[in-house]
Amino acid sequence: MARCQKGFNETFRKMAESPTWEALCCQVFDHERSMRAGQLSFTSAGQIRLLAEKLHITSQSRVLELASGTGGLSLYLAKVTGCHLTGLDLSPVAVKIANKQAVLQGLSPRVNFEVCILPELPYKECSFDAVVSVDSVYVVPDKISLFRGCYQVLKPGGIIGFYTLVKRRSFPAESAMCARARFWFPSQPYCRLLEEAGLKDILKVDLTEEFIQLARQWLRAIQENRVLLEKELGKKAAKGLLVGDISTAWALAVEGYVGRALFEAQKPPQAKSVVYSHLHNESAHGVCMASI
Ligand SMILES: C[S@@+](CC[C@H](N)C(=O)[O-])C[C@H]1O[C@@H](n2cnc3c(N)ncnc32)[C@H](O)[C@@H]1O
Repeated sequence: MARCQKGFNETFRKMAESPTWEALCCQVFDHERSMRAGQLSFTSAGQIRLLAEKLHITSQSRVLELASGTGGLSLYLAKVTGCHLTGLDLSPVAVKIANKQAVLQGLSPRVNFEVCILPELPYKECSFDAVVSVDSVYVVPDKISLFRGCYQVLKPGGIIGFYTLVKRRSFPAESAMCARARFWFPSQPYCRLLEEAGLKDILKVDLTEEFIQLARQWLRAIQENRVLLEKELGKKAAKGLLVGDISTAWALAVEGYVGRALFEAQKPPQAKSVVYSHLHNESAHGVCMASI
């Protein structure tokens, strides 16, 4: 876990200091300057507004974001809806950058970020109206504990919504994604895991076409700005961005092996209190995404 934290810390520190990275996020993902805390995912400003609409997030809502990174997307969500938001991430560097931006943008203390290693969720039962996450649920190996924790911290009638890559069919054995499949994709489909955690009205919105388009634009923009990115982020990170997971995921999406979706599920409005005494299994902190 310490190695994983260190990898993400380094990546986020470099990204925060890279004007080229910030400019590319605005150009490719239609981000406003207010999202300058950045992102490490495939999310357009429109997808954040879609999340707000589907989860009925308003200025009265208390929202928890899982693995919020440097908080660019959370700050935008809080800005457009007026909601109260707490973002969690294992990287202290990312949390510091996110909190600094919240202050600079006048969103603190309505929006704040905390260091936390998921699936731990140190909040009282029924604390949040919505739980959101963007391209991050896959980083937690013990997903059933994570979803059970979400069930607990959601108010009755509260909704969880998250974007993630999904496997559509078996990969070619020689593909890089196949080697990483156990990390990227849960052994059970997300819908079944959500249901097992007690959540209902599960919906899946397919966004694969949008993902293919965004990933293509992202890869092109990275290629065109390679020299600057190598200078600002370092050669290893710039190369990782081009030939690493993004291009592999994009290529497999084009071939129909993977997709990207928005999952949504509700804690039943009449839900009674359930306390899971054994939230974590042994693998909970075992695996972590390598940094780019
Ligand atoms: C692909 S990034 C996405 C970040 C952010 N959601 C975004 O869209 O920019 C994955 C994030 O998960 C965080 N992370 C990885 N494992 C985690 C864990 N067990 N608990 C909390 N955060 C974790 C990383 O620090 C990183 O910020």
